[in-house]
Parts: sequence; C-alpha cells; structure tokens
Amino acid sequence: MANSNLRLYWKNVTAAAIGKEHGITPAAFRKLAGRVRKAVARVNQEREAGATPYRDLPRSKKHPQAVKDMVAQVRNGCENLVVLGIGGSALGNIALQTALNSPLHNLDEAQRQGPRLFVLDNIDPVQFGAFLKWAEKGLDRTVWNVISKSGETAETAAQFMIVRQMLLNKLGHDGYRRQVIATTDVSRGVLRRISANDGLRTLVVPEGVGGRFSVLSPVGLFSAAMCGIDIDLLLAGARAMDARVKSEDLYANPAAMIAALNCHYYQERGKNIAVMMPYSFQLKDLTDWYRQLWAESLGKAQDRKGRAVHVGPTPVNALGATDQHSQIQLYREGPNDKLFTFLEVERFSREITIGPAPAGASEVEFLAGKTLGALLNSEKQASEYALLINERPCLTIVFPEITAYTVGQFIYLYEVATSIAGVLLDVNPYDQPAVELGKEVTRALEGKPGADYEDLAREVQSPMKKDREYLV
Ligand code: PA5
Repeated sequence: MANSNLRLYWKNVTAAAIGKEHGITPAAFRKLAGRVRKAVARVNQEREAGATPYRDLPRSKKHPQAVKDMVAQVRNGCENLVVLGIGGSALGNIALQTALNSPLHNLDEAQRQGPRLFVLDNIDPVQFGAFLKWAEKGLDRTVWNVISKSGETAETAAQFMIVRQMLLNKLGHDGYRRQVIATTDVSRGVLRRISANDGLRTLVVPEGVGGRFSVLSPVGLFSAAMCGIDIDLLLAGARAMDARVKSEDLYANPAAMIAALNCHYYQERGKNIAVMMPYSFQLKDLTDWYRQLWAESLGKAQDRKGRAVHVGPTPVNALGATDQHSQIQLYREGPNDKLFTFLEVERFSREITIGPAPAGASEVEFLAGKTLGALLNSEKQASEYALLINERPCLTIVFPEITAYTVGQFIYLYEVATSIAGVLLDVNPYDQPAVELGKEVTRALEGKPGADYEDLAREVQSPMKKDREYLV
C-alpha cells in the first residue's frame, strides 16, 4: 500500500525557501542529522529493553482479539455507546470517531454502522445532566465504557458513580452489569477492584502504556470497533509507520524529522509555539489528541538528571479553512515565534461540486463548477504561501486519503516523534507529575480522608481564597 503512505514535506523550513533568518541551512541540517541519529538509536534501544510497551501495540494479537470478542458480546441491540474518561482515556476515542466515521454518525442512522457514540470527557453538571436525561430513555440499549487506568481520576470516578447508581436504580444489579464495561489496569487500582466486586466485564490498559500513548490499545480500539471502524487496518497503518520510524537516517524517518525540526526551532530559534492546522474537518480532533501528547509529554520542569529546565514547546491547534478567518492575521504578522504543521488531504472520500453563480454575481462566478475539496486545498496553499512570504517555517503532512490505514500511520508517527523529541529535549516523555498535583489537590479539596490530604486542603485554602480587595 505504498501509495497510501503519509508523506512529510519539509522544504518550507529550509533557508532556501524562507531565508536564513528563520530557515534552516544545510550546515544546520547536517548537525541535526547527527543529533537525531543518536536520539533514534536511543529510542530503539529503549524499545528493545521493553521500556516503551506502546511501541508494540500495533503487533499485539491479544488486544484486538479481546476487543473483537467484547464487541461480539455487546454490540447486538446496542444503540448508544458512552465512553466515560478524560485525557488519554478519551481524546483518542474522539479523534478516531471524527476521522473515520461520518460527521453525522450520531444523527443519521443511514450514515452509521454501529451505535451512536458519546465521549463524555468532562464533568460539567449542565452537560452531563442533559445527557443523562436523554440517555435515561434507552438505558437497556446503552453500553457504558468507563475508561481509567488508575481508577482514581476524580472526573471519571464521579461520572461512573453517578451512572452506576442510576443503572442500579433503574435496571437492577444484573442490568447494571450487563450495560457497563470497564477498561483499566490489568491488575491494580480501584476500578479493577470495583469491577471484580460488581462482576463487570473488563478490557485492559496494557502494562506500562500511559494514557496518551494508549489509543491503539483497547482504550481506543473498543469504541472504534463498536462504531464500525476497521481496527485491523488502523493497526496495519501503525505497523507500516513502525517500519519507517526505526531508521536513524533523518531523511528517511518522518518521526525523526518532525522531532528534529520542532526541537531545533524551539531550542535554537526561539519558536516556542507549534501550530498544527489540518485542512480537513475529519482530522480536527486528531489535533486535540496531538496537543495532549505533545504538551503532557514534553512540558517538563526537570531533565532526565533531575536538573531544573522548564522546557516544552506549546502546541496549538487551528482548523483550516475556519481559522483563516480567525488566526492567520496573527500567524502572518504577529511574532515569528511559531512552527506550522499543516495536514493536507489529497483525495477526500466524497466531493461536492459548487453550483452555478446566480445571474449578476460575477464576483463569485469563478467558483462555479469547482469542488469543495479543491477549494479547501487551494485555501491551504494560499495560507502556506502567505506564511512563507513572511518567512514563517511550515511543514505539511500529506494524507493521500483519510482511512483507518493513514490515521493509524499518523498516530504512530506522532507517538514516536514524541519519544524522539523527549530524547532531544532530554526529558522523560512518559510521566506527568504536574498533572498529578492537580489530581491530588482536587481529592484534598473534595475531602478525601488522610492527614496528608487534610494538610494539603489547608495549604491550598489561603492562596485560593478570593480576597475581596482584588475583586472588581
Ligand atoms: O496521558 C495521561 O496519562 C493522562 O492524560 C491520563 O490519561 C488522564 O489523566 C486520565 O487518567 P486515568 O486513565 O488514570 O483516569
């Protein structure tokens, strides 16, 4: 499937394309190629030593089979699938659904193969309440997939406790057990314990795979398979990318090129912001997934030796063409502190031809007979050109088409680029200590028992109290 390969176009970061002040010279490329060779070698060694189990998910037979077995058990009669999860336990599910199913999947029965999908990754009471009110009407036709590796994430635990009680009240214990599937750590954690006590069916978050690297595990595969996405093709795409991202040659390895260019611009050229801008609605939520992957993995206070560094490029997402009418003014004329990565689609899965211009509307006549896809791609070229002439560095990732195969490649490409960038920035991309503090403070504020939590709650009270004199 060579002509289904993603391609990375990087000419528009070169000094030849955008000038020496913001472009990369051949000498700088030679230096980068040397740095990257060592970084990829290290990432490959870490994989061989078993330190990065996410790398082997595309080759797993066990996990996709477990997912298919579960789908076979619950899909019949299931009209709604609800995912309860947050962060890495939700963003991949949303991204796969938006990329690979119809934008009207939930609204139009004719445009879906499988249940409606709702991924509730927040605890806003108005949103959650409205959803429950609607869902109550079809509880015996609704499957709830609660996803939490730790089981202790307050948002997911709270959602689950509300849903559990509702199902127990309305459907009884057997009904509750029938309608809920828990995806959690293989053996540890409170959700694993609850599942055992309540007799819930479970899927696993594989050992050593962190939330944001888990979309190709049962975390992301179950909702995808339930909703008709070809998970075998998704994993085949990831495997095809795996063959490319092992290479130590910068020019043969797109993950190495992405990591090298992002780190070069961040470390040596003062470009702290990385903008990802797809020209495709289908790819829009993959950029939310990317944003978490990049931010949580690379934004770190300490380097691998524990020295204070406070590093991390800031990932930003935008959507073409919508954000041309919102962000491009800043991107072109504001500070030259960003690296742009466009996502471009060569062949959209459907095309729409623009109708004739009304009489007397000569200003828009040029559009008549053109397709929307071609117009969108012209808009992408126009934006990139506009940025180039202002010496803004741009990359493009070209999707020949959007299929499970190319999306699988994209996911794996960015996961490995993150690992390589972790080496180049000398940080551990697999932990998230800053997120953990927020989780702990939430528990303390919500009255979790224990002396440590009580101390923390007291400590937080004073700086968080709203002093009247500062309220306008
Ligand atoms: O990437 C991560 O590790 C995080 O975003 C987690 O996925 C998120 O905090 C949810 O954690 P959990 O799955 O333990 O509920």
